Amino acid sequence: MAKALDGVRILDFTHVQSGPTCTQLLAWFGADVIKVERAGAGDITREQLRDIPDVDSLYFTMLNHNKRSITIDTKHPEGKQVLEALIRKCDVLVENFAPGALDRMGFSWERIQELNPRMIVASVKGFGPGPYEDCKVYENVAQCAGGAASTTGFDDGPPVVTGAQIGDSGTGLHLALGIVTALYQRTHTGRGQRVLAAMQDGVLNLCRVKLRDQQRLDRTGVMKEYPQYPNGTFGEAVPRAGNASGGGQPGWILKCKGWETDPNAYIYFITQAPVWAKICNVIGKEEWATDPAYATAPARLPRLKEIFAEIERWTMTKTKFEAMQILNKHDIPCGPILSMKEIAEEPSLRKTGTIVEVDHPKRGKYLSVGNPIKLSDSPTDVKRSPLLGEHTDEVMAELGYSTEQITALRTAGAI
Ligand SMILES: CC(C)(COP(=O)(O)OP(=O)(O)OC[C@H]1O[C@@H](n2cnc3c(N)ncnc32)[C@H](O)[C@@H]1OP(=O)(O)O)[C@@H](O)C(=O)NCCC(=O)NCCS
Repeated sequence: MAKALDGVRILDFTHVQSGPTCTQLLAWFGADVIKVERAGAGDITREQLRDIPDVDSLYFTMLNHNKRSITIDTKHPEGKQVLEALIRKCDVLVENFAPGALDRMGFSWERIQELNPRMIVASVKGFGPGPYEDCKVYENVAQCAGGAASTTGFDDGPPVVTGAQIGDSGTGLHLALGIVTALYQRTHTGRGQRVLAAMQDGVLNLCRVKLRDQQRLDRTGVMKEYPQYPNGTFGEAVPRAGNASGGGQPGWILKCKGWETDPNAYIYFITQAPVWAKICNVIGKEEWATDPAYATAPARLPRLKEIFAEIERWTMTKTKFEAMQILNKHDIPCGPILSMKEIAEEPSLRKTGTIVEVDHPKRGKYLSVGNPIKLSDSPTDVKRSPLLGEHTDEVMAELGYSTEQITALRTAGAI
């Protein structure tokens, strides 16, 4: 079956997590993604956090499905020529090198435009133009600089980073959208353009509600859905809100049966206003549905701590799945805290292809996260990541190099 991005060729100059997330998505949508790696070494993640000696790590395999790998020394004069041939042939160059690395290699925007004016050059950088633009950046640096860490955690503790890779994978997602948008614009203009997704910007975009709250705080000095109200104090900046929900419906994480031994025996419980009477019935506090001190959402705000403690007395009598079943029957929004083990074993996620089992010639079978974006006319078929340089000869032949030329370039160390 045809794929949405059939015919689009991506020169994938990415490494680690942010860039590879982006190009993996494009590959899943059908683009031909040619990953250029350093001869002999490859993407550094091939050897990071290895669980099997001398076998590409899960870090690498889970971020580089459906790509082809070619090894080129792009600082070797003849290697540069191969890269030039690729630039002429491809639609998009995606890179997430340290600032200036592509220029130092001799491939400035101007030079790339000379070679291929239709080329879209897409980059992940840590920061956009400004005081930090030259910095190298990793995930947690972006989480801190983008506002996520200062707003995550509990009020009486330090800033906390989140397990969701919003700096790396989040920015890769942003970049992918930029690329398909630029490809669409090119259909009208015939021109390529530069696409930049800075990790600080990507994280901030995902923290948009916290900038909303900063302005509410500036104006009123208090935010009633935050746990600091009415018992604590607000400072000048948006505080860490623990597990309070980011929206207008108060929520919290509550213990369930077994919490003493199972670190994930918890449920997220939302006291959504329209189902308040049902919540009161379920937890056996029917009187709260009519008592003016509890019956309305504004009346409940100063009492949230007491209310959640009462609800927790009920959730602690149920497992998170039992509680989920009962609450869902009444349309009371809630969510079990699922461990990675539970997610890996969840049959419905396997069925939809969100969790896939992939076979790899060196590591055997492993689990990966499939394409989370489902297109009805462009199904995703997850294929294993390439071995280092696995497609060098194939891609070189497509570029017009003869077997003799390929051998000579290999002997010279250019590929
Ligand atoms: C992630 C990051 C910190 C890693 O830094 P690093 O390991 O030092 O790697 P760099 O990107 O600086 O690249 C190292 C060098 O390898 C060179 N190189 C890369 N591929 C090459 C190839 N195929 N052949 C020859 N040289 C190559 C680069 O040209 C660069 O050389 P230079 O420093 O002489 O200019 C940095 O790339 C970065 O800040 N990227 C942007 C933000 C980002 O994506 N961060 C998240 C990563 S998940």
